[in-house]
Amino acid sequence: MRTVLGVAGGIAAYKACHVIRRLRDLGHSVKVVPTEAALNFVGAATFEALSGQTVTSDVFAEVDTVNHVRIGQEAELVIIAPATANTIAKIAAGLADDLLSATVLTTTAEVVVAPAMHTEMWLNQATVANIATLRARGIHVLDPAVGRLTGPDSGPGRLPEPEEIVDFALAAADRSGPADQSALAGRSVVISAGGTREALDPVRFLGNRSSGKQGIALANAAAAAGAHVQLVAANVDSGLLTGLPAGVEVTQVESTEQLQEAMRAAQPGADVIIMAAAVADYRPADRAGAKMKKSADEGLQITLVQNPDILVGLVQSRTDSQIIVGFAAETGDETHTADEYAREKLVRKGVDLLVFNDVSDNRAFGHDDTTVHVLAPSETGVDELGEFSGSKDSVSEKVVRVIGARLPSVESTP
Ligand code: C5P
Repeated sequence: MRTVLGVAGGIAAYKACHVIRRLRDLGHSVKVVPTEAALNFVGAATFEALSGQTVTSDVFAEVDTVNHVRIGQEAELVIIAPATANTIAKIAAGLADDLLSATVLTTTAEVVVAPAMHTEMWLNQATVANIATLRARGIHVLDPAVGRLTGPDSGPGRLPEPEEIVDFALAAADRSGPADQSALAGRSVVISAGGTREALDPVRFLGNRSSGKQGIALANAAAAAGAHVQLVAANVDSGLLTGLPAGVEVTQVESTEQLQEAMRAAQPGADVIIMAAAVADYRPADRAGAKMKKSADEGLQITLVQNPDILVGLVQSRTDSQIIVGFAAETGDETHTADEYAREKLVRKGVDLLVFNDVSDNRAFGHDDTTVHVLAPSETGVDELGEFSGSKDSVSEKVVRVIGARLPSVESTP
């Protein structure tokens, strides 16, 4: 594949060298387009030697081959790593005052942006809005890693590892066939994310460790595929919600009862419902009106009652063409494997797809990487449609692609 690697002027520019290596090892050609600032960190000679192609940041170089439009037109995949706050702002504004921004403006290939900057810049409202703009336009944005930055400081803003960038970018390019692009375009997708909390008293609750990252990643992927997305977020950190594309509608809930109400209200207009939230199976039978007091020497007994299974309820009241997707975090035991439990759950809940992961060692909660298996009912029992590993973003793109492929075509939808 003909790839273009844009490199912006940040300290992480040196990692672009590893991205070039990896792409070339996998058999792809790489045209490196640095910004002028990037060349202060890594010289053009290094990029030329590693890529085997000429390197310039100037729109007025090699004008005989009309570089400023040709590179973008010929590209089959454009990756920008690292992408600084400045370069992201230029892309969001549609500027074309250097070779990289002109290339992004002329390409019709998938564009993948791997941001790297100081935490303050990443969290600044200007950058948050620019990232949302990019995502709304279908540009694939990797979340930056959390860790050590240039100086002694650390936080979100670190460039993800080169292998992750390349895997994510190749998955994005792989996803870009016309059929996949159109399957979810204009469709309505309702996604639940996070974990419900059941109040014991005004200050305490029973909850779980779901961060909501999986549901957010699914919302991003569905929005990038052109869907209208409604996200029902149960106790998801507001920092995660601010990065969502502009068109995503968010309803915030706390308890299972509130989540059920929001999902039921959203169901009638939905083409796809994805229950990615971790829902509490039980809630306290009584909620104390005032903060519970500690008793001197006795333990505390709490009576729990079962919550409704929201997913089962949605399956029971669904329309014919609606696709309903469940998520399950499973562990195996001495009698059954995680896979066996997941297959049984798919049948019991009556869903069209079940996305499950093995959480035996606390592997999924709060982490950026995951491995999931996608199961679907078949005439002979249950089929595994695929196993996907990687960042929650790249896994979500693949899951959304599987969902899109199962939607009845628009013509056959009543
Ligand atoms: O039974 P389990 O909790 O493993 O099932 C997981 C799936 O069922 C998830 O999609 C979750 O959102 C959904 N669920 C639900 N209502 C519950 C429990 C789980 O909708 N009370």
